[in-house]
Formats: sequence, C-alpha cells, structure tokens
Amino acid sequence: MHIRQFDLRRDLQAVLQFQDEIYERNFPGFEVNQKFLNDFARQLRAADRSPAEQLWVLEIADQIRGFVWGALITSMIDEFVGYIKNVYVAPELRGQGYGHRLLETAEEWFRAEGAPKAALDASVCNQQALSLYTKAGYCTGRLRMEKPLNK
Ligand SMILES: CC(C)(COP(=O)(O)OP(=O)(O)OC[C@H]1O[C@@H](n2cnc3c(N)ncnc32)[C@H](O)[C@@H]1OP(=O)(O)O)[C@@H](O)C(=O)NCCC(=O)NCCS
Repeated sequence: MHIRQFDLRRDLQAVLQFQDEIYERNFPGFEVNQKFLNDFARQLRAADRSPAEQLWVLEIADQIRGFVWGALITSMIDEFVGYIKNVYVAPELRGQGYGHRLLETAEEWFRAEGAPKAALDASVCNQQALSLYTKAGYCTGRLRMEKPLNK
C-alpha cells in the first residue's frame, strides 16, 4: 500500500468512479449523472494545473482504492486555510486507518505551505466521516442549517 500524488492521466477514471458513492452518501436523494461527472472531471483537470490544489491516491496492488483532495483557500474570515474537498476509501478497506492517513497527507502539505488551520464540510448523516474527522481532531466551528421552503 502506498499514498502517492494524483496523476491525471492514470487516476482520473478511478477517482470519478468513487463519486457516485461520495455524493449519494453525503447528499441523500442526489443522483450522480453524466453532466455531474463531466463537471467533476473538469474540476479535477483544473486542480491538476493549480498550485493551490493537490490530490493524493491510495494505491494497493496497482489499484486505486482511495484518494484525498486538498486546496489552499482564502475566505472573508480566514486568510489562509487548508480545505479538504473530498476524501474516500473503498468499502472493503474502511476502518483500517487509511482515511486518517489520507487526511494526514493533505494536512502535512497544508502545514508545509504555511496554512495555520485545516477545515472541511461534513454531512450530519455520514456517521463514518464524522467519526473519522472527530478522531482526526476536527471540531464543529459552525453549523449550516437548512429549511425546506414549500411552494
Ligand atoms: C469516511 C471515510 C473516508 C473513512 O475512511 P476509513 O479508512 O474507514 O477511516 P479510518 O479507518 O481512518 O477510520 C477513522 C474512524 O472512522 C470511523 N470508521 C471507520 N470505518 C467505520 C465503519 N465501517 N463504521 C463506523 N465507523 C467507522 C471510526 O471511528 C474510525 O476510528 P477507529 O480508528 O477508532 O476505528 C470512508 O468511510 C469513506 O470513504 N466513506 C465514503 C466517502 C465519504 O463519505 N467521504 C467523506 C465525504 S467527502
């Protein structure tokens, strides 16, 4: 097993294939379609060209079984934050610490780039992800609240 930098040509399809589960798990009712995948592929290509974004893949026996996507961002509140855009580990490998190692890989890069803080967004319905983030030291700073507006 090793974690290495994303290679657009070799790894794009594998990372795209994981998106069904990521989005359908985190946004119940959302359906990943071809347009979404095309947009996502465009974002990955842009990330590959940007010095402010990095992806790493988890490779086991020549197969991509997970990845993490980090970005250095600026917001109105935080001048410089390392933001985890996406993290994924294949179902058969979960609970063995790979998610944690992927997060640490992105965090090491954030630190090396001088970011004082790492941040991410999480869905409250995704207990496995919440559990991983809490164990990795992330705390809830703000809550996004939603209300359906009936027509
Ligand atoms: C969230 C995710 C990346 C965790 O990866 P992972 O490799 O299982 O994480 P780790 O093994 O490092 O586990 C860290 C913690 O997560 C929790 N966890 C992991 N697997 C779990 C499982 N099958 N059931 C419940 N909790 C679990 C545990 O609290 C674990 O702590 P432990 O080390 O004390 O057991 C993985 O479940 C996943 O890819 N989910 C689908 C994609 C997704 O929703 N990503 C997040 C949004 S982008």
